[in-house]
Amino acid sequence: MGHISRAIDVVKTCARDNIVNFVETGTGDGSSCRHVAGAVKNINIHTIEYVPEILEKTKAVLGPLYANINFHLGSSKDVLAELVPTLRGGTLFWLDAHFPGADYGLASYDSFEDKTIRIPLEVELETICSLRDISKDVFVMDDLRIYEDGPFEEGNWTGRKILGGVGIDFIRKLLEITHNIEKSYSQQGFIIARPK
Ligand SMILES: C[S@@+](CC[C@H](N)C(=O)[O-])C[C@H]1O[C@@H](n2cnc3c(N)ncnc32)[C@H](O)[C@@H]1O
Repeated sequence: MGHISRAIDVVKTCARDNIVNFVETGTGDGSSCRHVAGAVKNINIHTIEYVPEILEKTKAVLGPLYANINFHLGSSKDVLAELVPTLRGGTLFWLDAHFPGADYGLASYDSFEDKTIRIPLEVELETICSLRDISKDVFVMDDLRIYEDGPFEEGNWTGRKILGGVGIDFIRKLLEITHNIEKSYSQQGFIIARPK
């Protein structure tokens, strides 16, 4: 599991790019959400989780601590379709949803055949780009190793060919006109797209 602080300096990024919203797909145990809520005062946070037990557990911990975190239950593609049109101002998207429940032992990595649930990054980006002018937004996408092999700090993922994706051309297609795209090989790999 990757942590947003290993991909970018959240405080510097938010200041430089006038970020007022943080949108996370895949709440998990809330580590990245907690980091952002603690580091950036008054940022408007939305986090989306597919598995009810995971969302409830994290909400019970973080909800009382941070009034600015909005917790959403559902598949990232469905929640983003509702949420994205309501966002105003620069947004940092942390796209980190994959394999519902598997990282927490609640399901296996092959539990979901539907790719838009199992590895929803492509449909998430398509949804965001179709509903918003993304030219001033920052995108940080976790787990590059789901999509390709490389010199990752935590090694390649042996399940990639069966359960993962095939390259990141879809990211270039959607973002390369408006964003500079870079890869990081720390942890399990990140793709970082900043406005040009
Ligand atoms: C790696 S964990 C998230 C960690 C968290 N983002 C952090 O940085 O602290 C991935 C989470 O995504 C959730 N998830 C997987 N597929 C999803 C989907 N299609 N929609 C929403 N959440 C999803 C999983 O259940 C899991 O809790």
